[in-house]
Amino acid sequence: MYDNWEELKNCCMGCQRCELAQTRKNLVFGVGNPNAEVMFIGEGPGEQEDLRGEPFVGRGGQLLDKMLAVVDLDRNKNIYIANIVKCRPPKNRDPRPEEQEQCIGWLRNQTKLIRPKIIVCLGRISAAKIIKPDIKITKEHGIFFERNGTLLMATLHPAALLRNPSNKPAAMEDYFRLRDKIKEICTHTYDDQLNI
Ligand code: URA
Repeated sequence: MYDNWEELKNCCMGCQRCELAQTRKNLVFGVGNPNAEVMFIGEGPGEQEDLRGEPFVGRGGQLLDKMLAVVDLDRNKNIYIANIVKCRPPKNRDPRPEEQEQCIGWLRNQTKLIRPKIIVCLGRISAAKIIKPDIKITKEHGIFFERNGTLLMATLHPAALLRNPSNKPAAMEDYFRLRDKIKEICTHTYDDQLNI
């Protein structure tokens, strides 16, 4: 456990804990404000993310940014975004359980330092690892679960919404529920809005 964000990041960037290290172009540590009250967690980097070293920068990421903007969330201001695994699985296969287990310590350390009030899991793999292994995302998205004082919510993965655009309105509802919850329990996420 690192107490210092920069030390954590420096050490993580050289990670060789699993075989994904061998095929990565860039490790994707995360992006956003480490003082955020709201954290988003995806599955793992895809091709674009591997090339650029930043999470959610492909087509799915562009959709994510648009949906976030509707509820005044912005990766460069008031949220933090990371993934369950920090390196791209070859051909975008699902990260294996052992890869998830070897990597999750980094995410746990990030989460301990950020101390988010709300964690949003993007997609089934993230929700299964963080909320509960048997989560049914189609039925249980948008529901807040509480664990040790942190609220956890799953929503549909942006890439799944690109494949099934008819699910976009249901997913957007999750973001509206998130906005309501932020207004209820967060203290500085929407500070900008207070100053208008
Ligand atoms: N999909 C994810 O789950 N995470 C990313 O960073 C990109 C695509």
